[in-house]
Amino acid sequence: MPHVRMAHTLLAVALSYTLLSVVASAGWEFVQNGTVGIVALEAIIVSPTLAVFFDFAATGGPLMIDGHSAWGALWNLETNEATALEVVSDTFCASGALLSNGTMVSVGGNFFANSSSATDGRMGVRIFEPCANPDGVGCTLFDNPALVHLAETRWYTSSLRIFDGSLMIVGGIHEATVFFNTDPVNSFEFFPSKDGGIPRPSAFLARSLPVNLFPRVLALPDGKVFMVANNQSIIYDIEANTETILPDLPNGVRVTNPFDGSLALLPLSPPDYIPEVLVCGGTNTSDQLPLANLSSQDPASDQCSRITLTPAGIKKGWEVERMLEGRMMPEMIILPNGQILITNGAQTGYAAFNGVPDVIGNSNADHPAFTPSLYNPSAPLGHRISNQGLPTTDIPRLYHSTTSLTPSGNVLLAGSNPNPNVNMTVKFTTEFRVQYLNPPYMSLPRPTLSGLPAKIAFNSKFSAHVTIPAHLNLGAHPAIQVALMDLGFSSHSFHSSTRLVWLEATLSPDRKTIQISSPPNNRIYPPGPGYVFLTVGDTTSAGAHVMVGSGASPPVPDQGRKF
Ligand SMILES: *[C@@H]1O[C@H](CO)[C@@H](O)[C@H](O)[C@H]1NC(C)=O
Ligand SMILES: *[C@@H]1O[C@H](CO)[C@@H](O)[C@H](O)[C@H]1NC(C)=O
Ligand SMILES: *[C@@H]1O[C@H](CO)[C@@H](O)[C@H](O)[C@H]1NC(C)=O
Ligand SMILES: *[C@@H]1O[C@H](CO)[C@@H](O)[C@H](O)[C@H]1NC(C)=O
Ligand SMILES: *[C@@H]1O[C@H](CO)[C@@H](O)[C@H](O)[C@H]1NC(C)=O
Ligand SMILES: *[C@@H]1O[C@H](CO)[C@@H](O)[C@H](O)[C@H]1NC(C)=O
Ligand SMILES: *[C@@H]1O[C@H](CO)[C@@H](O)[C@H](O)[C@H]1NC(C)=O
Repeated sequence: MPHVRMAHTLLAVALSYTLLSVVASAGWEFVQNGTVGIVALEAIIVSPTLAVFFDFAATGGPLMIDGHSAWGALWNLETNEATALEVVSDTFCASGALLSNGTMVSVGGNFFANSSSATDGRMGVRIFEPCANPDGVGCTLFDNPALVHLAETRWYTSSLRIFDGSLMIVGGIHEATVFFNTDPVNSFEFFPSKDGGIPRPSAFLARSLPVNLFPRVLALPDGKVFMVANNQSIIYDIEANTETILPDLPNGVRVTNPFDGSLALLPLSPPDYIPEVLVCGGTNTSDQLPLANLSSQDPASDQCSRITLTPAGIKKGWEVERMLEGRMMPEMIILPNGQILITNGAQTGYAAFNGVPDVIGNSNADHPAFTPSLYNPSAPLGHRISNQGLPTTDIPRLYHSTTSLTPSGNVLLAGSNPNPNVNMTVKFTTEFRVQYLNPPYMSLPRPTLSGLPAKIAFNSKFSAHVTIPAHLNLGAHPAIQVALMDLGFSSHSFHSSTRLVWLEATLSPDRKTIQISSPPNNRIYPPGPGYVFLTVGDTTSAGAHVMVGSGASPPVPDQGRKF
C-alpha cells in the first residue's frame, strides 16, 4: 500500500509540474505552417477540418489542376495541406457565405479572357455542398454559369446570409476599373432569387460612389441589414424595401474598397440582443481627389467608430476611439471570448495595386502593420484597444489576404498579393505561406464540449458533455461563457456573416454536463451552420459544429419566438 500511495504522489507532482511549465510558456504566438500554392484571396471555413480558398484565375501559382494553375483549393486545417479544387469561372474578387442548409455559395468574380483558363465569373454562383469527409475526398464545386447565375454582372460584390437563410448580394462593379467604382451595379439581389429575379435598385449605393466596392453589410437581430459604404451608413429593411439613413462616419473617414476599413457586429447578448457595430481603419482622404493625387505614403486612419443601433443610440451617434496605428485593409475577427482581434493591413496608402503614382513594387499600400491588437467591447471608452502580449509577425498581409477564426479557436492567416500575377521579386511578394495566430489557450489544457445535437432548433434547450481542466474548475461558480459563432467569409478585409451570439448556459452540479439555450429566433442568428465554444475563465474549448435551425434549403420561414 505505502508504495502505491507514493506512486500516486509522484504522478501528481509530475502532472502539476507539466501543467505549471505549460502555463508558464502560454502566450499569443504566430506559427507558420504549410503553403497553399494559390493566393488565398477569399477564405471560408466549410467544415470542422476544411477551408475553401479562391484566387484570381490568372495568378499563375504553383498548385496545378488539369495541366493549369488552380484558382481554388481545399485547405486541410489538420494536415496543413492544400488540394486543388476544380473551378470553372473566375473567382477574382468574389464573396460568399453558407446558406441555411449548410451549402457554401460563392458569387461574382471577373473575366480576363486572354490570361486564363477560366470563363466569365461576373455572374458566377458556385455551389459547394456540405462536405462530410474530413479530408474533402469526393467534395467538389458545382460551377456551371449556363445553368445557375446571378441577374447582374458583379465584380467586388458583397454577400450576406440573411434571416431566411438565403444570400443577399450587394453592389459591385460591372467591368474592370483601375481604382474607383466607375461602372457601378447599384442594386441588391438574392440567391435563391426573390422578386422574380429582378435586382432591387439601391439609392444608398448610388449616393456612396465612387468608394463603395465591397460594401460592409451585416444582419441585425431584427432581420434588417446594416450597411456601410464610403463614409455613409444605413439600415435596410429587406421586407419593406426601405432604407433608414444613419449618421455618416465621423471625421471624413471612408471604409470601403479601395479605401478599405472593416466592420464587425459586437457580440449579441440575451435577453435583449441590442446591436452595436464597430468600424475601424480606412482613410480620411477625400473621395473627390484624382488617383494621381493619392500616395502609397498617405497615412491610413486609426479611427474606430462605434454606434448602438437603437433609436437612443442612433441619436447619440458614433463614438470614436483610436487604434495604436492607422490601418488600411484591417481584418476584424471576433474571438470566442467576445473580444475583437484587429490584425493585418498597412499603415499607409490604399487597397489594390498599380494605381497610385508611387507604388511600392506594385502595391498601393506600404508600411505593413505587423502587430495585432485586441478590442475589448466591455472596457470603458479609451481603454478598449491594446496590443499588450500580442506577437509581431514578419509576413506582410496586404491586398488580397484573408483571415478566419478556425473551429479549433485559433486564427488562420493566408494570402496577400498586391501584384497582378505571381511576383517574387518585388518588396511585397505573392504570399503562399499559411500562418496561425494562436491565443494563449491553444497551448494550455482546455475545456472540452461534446455530445451536442447535430441540429439545434431555435428557442430550445439542449445539453452537452463538458470537461473542465482541474486548474480552471475552481470556486463555487466558475465563470463560464458559451458562444454560438458563424465564422464568416473573408474577402477584401471584411468577414461577412460573422457573428457571435451569447447563449445562456447552466453547468450541472457535478460539472460534467451543461444545459444551453439556443438563440430565440432565426433573426438573432440567421439559420445555418455554427460553432459552439465554451470559455471557462480565460480558456476556450474547441468549437463544436452544429446546424442551427431546420437545416432546410432557403428561403426558410421564421422560426422560434418573436421579439
Ligand atoms: C504543422 O502542422 C502539422 C500537421 O498538423 C503538424 O504535424 C506540425 O507539428 C505543425 N508544425 C508546426 C511548426 O506547428
Ligand atoms: C483578347 O483577345 C481578343 C481576341 O484575340 C483581342 O481582340 C483582345 O484585344 C484581347 N484583349 C486583351 C486585353 O489583350
Ligand atoms: C461624407 O462624404 C461626403 C462626400 O465626400 C461629404 O460631402 C460629407 O461631408 C462627408 N460626411 C462627413 C460627416 O464628413
Ligand atoms: C493634384 O496634384 C497636382 C500635381 O501636384 C496639383 O497640381 C493639383 O492641384 C492636385 N489636385 C487636387 C485636387 O488636389
Ligand atoms: C486624417 O487622418 C490623419 C491620419 O490619421 C490625421 O493625421 C489627420 O489629422 C486627419 N485629418 C482630419 C481632418 O481628421
Ligand atoms: C514584378 O513587379 C515588378 C514591378 O512592377 C516588375 O518590374 C516585374 O516585371 C514583375 N515581375 C513579374 C514576374 O511579373
Ligand atoms: C441548399 O440550397 C441551395 C439553394 O437552393 C441549393 O443549391 C443546394 O443544392 C442546397 N443544398 C442542399 C444540401 O440541400
